[in-house]
Amino acid sequence: MKIDHTIQFNDDKKLIHFLNIEGLSEEHIFEILDLADTIKPKSLDDKTVASLFFEPSTRTKTTFELASKRLGADFINIDIANSSTSKGESILDMIKTLEAMQCNMFIVRHSTSGIPHYIAKEVGDKISVINAGDGTNAHPTQAMLDMYTIKKYKGEFKNLNVAIVGDILHSRVAKSLIASLNILKVRNINIIGPRILMPKNIDQLNVTYFDSLELGINDTDVIIMLRLQKERMHEALISTDDYYKEFGLTKNKIKNAKKDVIVMHPGPINRGIEIDSDVADGPNSVILDQVSAGISIRMAIMSLILKNKSSL
Ligand code: CP
Repeated sequence: MKIDHTIQFNDDKKLIHFLNIEGLSEEHIFEILDLADTIKPKSLDDKTVASLFFEPSTRTKTTFELASKRLGADFINIDIANSSTSKGESILDMIKTLEAMQCNMFIVRHSTSGIPHYIAKEVGDKISVINAGDGTNAHPTQAMLDMYTIKKYKGEFKNLNVAIVGDILHSRVAKSLIASLNILKVRNINIIGPRILMPKNIDQLNVTYFDSLELGINDTDVIIMLRLQKERMHEALISTDDYYKEFGLTKNKIKNAKKDVIVMHPGPINRGIEIDSDVADGPNSVILDQVSAGISIRMAIMSLILKNKSSL
């Protein structure tokens, strides 16, 4: 499916959907980060939000629900497995049905890249769509809460060395992170992992590739660990034992990074594969801060795009 990154903007370049990091400016990103600190509760108390998760989720789904409720919106959690899609209803017919119930926003997670963009093209003038993770394409709200967490601990972006470790090839989080970090002009982005788990277009990403964890995290301010995305691999590409030996982050290996390095992970964590419990629960870990940031960042994004939509 061809993905149109421009569909999330109106003619004034304001965000009316939130689908991809690609195409955003530094100003768009800081507008959301700043709004997350000042967002007022109950500002969407006349709106209805529907979440459509065609793939499992704990963090994203729950923080969108909490964000909606704190904004005062009605929140409808569509139980996809028991919805009429199991009787053959198409996604589009389902969306049109929910539109007829006066929903104002759809939050969509799907295993196929581009489904949220397809829905955004089809919905009416008053409705916004947020991408909550589509295939291997993007997870833009995760990247925004990660930028919020980095800003909270490091204050700025331009002098940072950031390492992203793991299965970059299958990771929608990695793609949205790399796009965000480039827009914010961080000093270095190192991507680390086995060559077989790296994308083919590595030369176009403005990153430096390392096949050694120790070398790649040397002198870094931020380390972002990713899990092996087994659900998106057609075959086992590496054994978990081998992966842990080479790329698992341990208390010993973290000594190569700066002393005040922060360790991040979008979750879910696979302890003993990509990260040891000593590190995940250790003094450098900000993993649970990321989860908390998800509420205010998602409140900010929901509020901003609905405000921009209403002023059409
Ligand atoms: N980070 C993330 O997307 O986690 P969930 O799959 O639990 O939502």
